[in-house]
Amino acid sequence: MLEGKKILLGISGSIAAYKTAALTRLFVKAGAQVKIVMTPAARDFVTPVTLATLSKNPVQSQFIKGDKGEWTNHVELGLWADVMLLAPLTANTLAKMANGLCDNLLLATYLSARCTVVVAPAMDLDMYAHPATQNNLKTISSYGNLIIEPNSGELASGLDGKGRMAEPEEIFQFLKNHFNQSNELVGKQVLVTAGPTYEHIDPVRFIGNHSSGKMGFAIAEVLANKGAKVVLIAGPNQLNLKHKNIQQIDVNTAEEMFQATLKHFKKSNIAILSAAVADYTPEKVSEQKIKKNGDTFQLKLKKTIDILKELGRLKTNKQKLIGFALETENELANAKKKIVAKNLDFIVLNSLKNKGAGFGVDTNQVQIIHKDGKIHNFGLKSKSAVAIDIVDQLIQIIHA
Ligand code: CTP
Repeated sequence: MLEGKKILLGISGSIAAYKTAALTRLFVKAGAQVKIVMTPAARDFVTPVTLATLSKNPVQSQFIKGDKGEWTNHVELGLWADVMLLAPLTANTLAKMANGLCDNLLLATYLSARCTVVVAPAMDLDMYAHPATQNNLKTISSYGNLIIEPNSGELASGLDGKGRMAEPEEIFQFLKNHFNQSNELVGKQVLVTAGPTYEHIDPVRFIGNHSSGKMGFAIAEVLANKGAKVVLIAGPNQLNLKHKNIQQIDVNTAEEMFQATLKHFKKSNIAILSAAVADYTPEKVSEQKIKKNGDTFQLKLKKTIDILKELGRLKTNKQKLIGFALETENELANAKKKIVAKNLDFIVLNSLKNKGAGFGVDTNQVQIIHKDGKIHNFGLKSKSAVAIDIVDQLIQIIHA
C-alpha cells in the first residue's frame, strides 16, 4: 500500500520531532521512499544524521548547501513527492503556511508542492486551542490540506490536554488509508458494532469481557476507505480511529448498544455486528456501592436483547446483515444455526481453538459461511487483512 510511494516529510521545531525517527523507519520498512526537509529549529530536536541514515537520503534544511553555493531545488522536491507530510507541525509553521510566508526551505517546498499535503500538529494545549491556531487550521484545510488531529494526553510542558502529535503508527495508518481508497461502496450506509459491553452492577463495578474492538474498528475503516458512510457503535475501547466517513457512537451497556443500533438500522443498507455483547445483565443495578457483608454473594442476571436477532427480524430484503460467531465446539453446525435463527446473509466464524485468533490479539483466523452454505476458509492474518476479506465477501454478495 505504501510500497514505492514517495513521501516528503517536513519537520518543524517541536519536541515531538524525536518521533519522526520511528515514523521514517515505518515508512521505509513499508517500501516507501522518504525525503526529509527540516526547519532550522527542528535540527535542535532530532539530528539530520539520524534521519538521513533512516531515510537513506540526505536531509535538507537550507536553500544553499555547504560553502560551494549549491542551491537546494525546493520546486523539484515538491514535484517529486506523492504526498507531503508535515509532522510535527508547530503553531509557528502553521501560521506561516496559512499566510503564505516563505522564510525557510520547508515553507518554500510547501508552497511549491502540487501533491496532497497532510499535517500532524503538535503544540501545547492552550496554543492549540487558541482561536488564531484554530483559524489557521481552518485556513490550511480550505487549501485542501488534510489534518491528523493531535491526541489528548500528557504534554511536554507537564500540562495535560489536546495537542500531542498523533503517534507514528497513527500517522502511518493515515497515509496508508490515503493511498488505499476506492469507491466500490460509495452511496452505501453501513452500521457496525464493535467492542465489549459493560453491564453495571453498582456505581463502581461492571460485568465485561476481553473484546478490544479491533476487529470491528478494522472493518469500519476498510468500509470507509471504499467510500461507505459508516456509523460505528462502539463499546468501551482504547482505540483511536479518525476517518471522515466514520461517525463513532460510544456506548457502555448492551441496552445502550441496542438503542443506538435500532436508531440507525432503518437507514442502513448493511449492518455488520461484531460486538461482543453481554448475553446477561444484572437484574438490578445497585444505586450504592455494594458492601462485602456475607461470605458469598449472589448476583441475579437477566437476558439482554439479542441485537443481531432483532435486526434479523426487522431486516428488509434490500438490507444485508452480517454476524459473528465465537464458538468453542461444533463450530460449523452452531454457526449455520445462527445464520437461520438470526436471518443473516453470512456469518464470520471465529474459533477459539485457533492460536493467535480471538480477543485482545492483533491477528484473527476466520471462516465465512454464507446463507447458501458456501464456506470460505482464511488463514491467520492481521485483523486489518481479515477486515479486507470480510468486506470483499460483502461486495461480492451485493453484486451477486
Ligand atoms: N449479539 C448481539 N446481541 C447480543 C448477543 C450477541 O448482537 N445480545 C451478536 C454478536 O455481535 C455476534 C453474534 O450475535 O455478531 C453472535 O454472538 P455469540 O455470542 O457468538 O452468539 P450468541 O447468539 O450470543 O449465542 P451463544 O452465546 O449461545 O453462542
